[in-house]
Amino acid sequence: MRLLITGGAGFIGSTFVRRRLATTQDVVTVLDKLTYAGNRANLAAVESDPRHAARYDFVHGDIADPALVEPLVGACDAVVNFAAESHVDRSILDPGAFLRTDVVGVHVLLEATRSAASQGRSVRFVQVSTDEVYGSIDEGSSHEQDALQPRSPYAAAKAAGELLVGAYEATYGLDTVITRGSNTYGPYQHPEKVVALFVTNALEDQPLPLYGDGLQRRDWLFVDDHADAVGFVLDHGLAGATYNVPAGQERTNREVTAAILAALDRPWSLVRSVPDRPGHDRRYAMDGSRLAELGWRPRVAFEEGIQLTIGWFRDNDAWWRAIKSGEWVDYYERQYGERLARSVEA
Ligand code: NAD
Ligand code: TYD
Repeated sequence: MRLLITGGAGFIGSTFVRRRLATTQDVVTVLDKLTYAGNRANLAAVESDPRHAARYDFVHGDIADPALVEPLVGACDAVVNFAAESHVDRSILDPGAFLRTDVVGVHVLLEATRSAASQGRSVRFVQVSTDEVYGSIDEGSSHEQDALQPRSPYAAAKAAGELLVGAYEATYGLDTVITRGSNTYGPYQHPEKVVALFVTNALEDQPLPLYGDGLQRRDWLFVDDHADAVGFVLDHGLAGATYNVPAGQERTNREVTAAILAALDRPWSLVRSVPDRPGHDRRYAMDGSRLAELGWRPRVAFEEGIQLTIGWFRDNDAWWRAIKSGEWVDYYERQYGERLARSVEA
């Protein structure tokens, strides 16, 4: 297959590209805007391996640019859309950027897919979405047919993107599938997200800013599993279907923090309880039986995945130290400066 991988220089997208090139004969074009979260270094392993580089191309650009997107979509068999503004805290600081990429960008990609269909070319469209579209769930688990009740600007933008995908499937008969992955962690994750932030802060003996009481619950999915699930749905998903991708590894933020500190042999006194995120979702949990029936299950338990992740961050400190400079310094001050000043023992 010829694949257009949007957002392929980000965390999950680059993992997908590396794994897909290694396990298939697919030809891959990455389209990425290289925002603060996009990083060409995430693709260095592909670009420096002649066996992979021969089937790979990189285009620097915006999914919301129709003139750029239309010929790229017209030349592929499937689009896998990882491109997004992806961090809840940044969506609270600046929601507009999320609407441009996560909604308008999806619309532009869908229009290009529709245009290809009108010329007799069927292009499969895979939208990589998130459990956050369901909103917070106190107990039980969210099923694919449940109502979407997003509560952050990020989650609302992702939900809007998904609804457009569904509308284009129903109205224009496009071949679309949607995945809803749970909280993902692993190598190459941007240090704004909690696991990468806490691992790198702990390595530097810096405070770990735990929001509120730290008893919020997430279901932690290792990045290789997330990337493989998206690939499985690309290959086997039923047209028009949505698939939850849970890990079955629910932990409180306190438990995640304790596991990181134990693995790094750092004291709990590094953890600071800081004022909570506004509108903080208490818990996400999804039912994974639809994807299991299709034939896919996650492989990596949290205890194994966190060790792999910590080992990678330990061995690749030049990668994350480069990110934790420049734009990062301003962001960190805006997000944590006052919070840490008001923090208490956790
Ligand atoms: P990320 O922020 O690490 O990467 C996003 C990538 O998209 C970056 O390379 C960035 O440069 C690129 N991008 C942003 N705007 C763009 C635009 N307008 N045009 C082209 N490229 C653009 O994100 P991630 O964690 O890898 O997430 C990938 C996808 O998976 C997102 O759609 C996200 O919503 C979804 N998701 C993430 C998680 C998670 O826990 N990280 C969980 C479920 C779903
Ligand atoms: P995050 O990685 O931002 O993912 P999401 O909000 O998409 O689930 O956060 C995961 C959890 O960790 C969430 O409950 C918020 C919490 N958190 C902190 O306690 N401190 C932090 O500095 C960050 C970034 C997150």
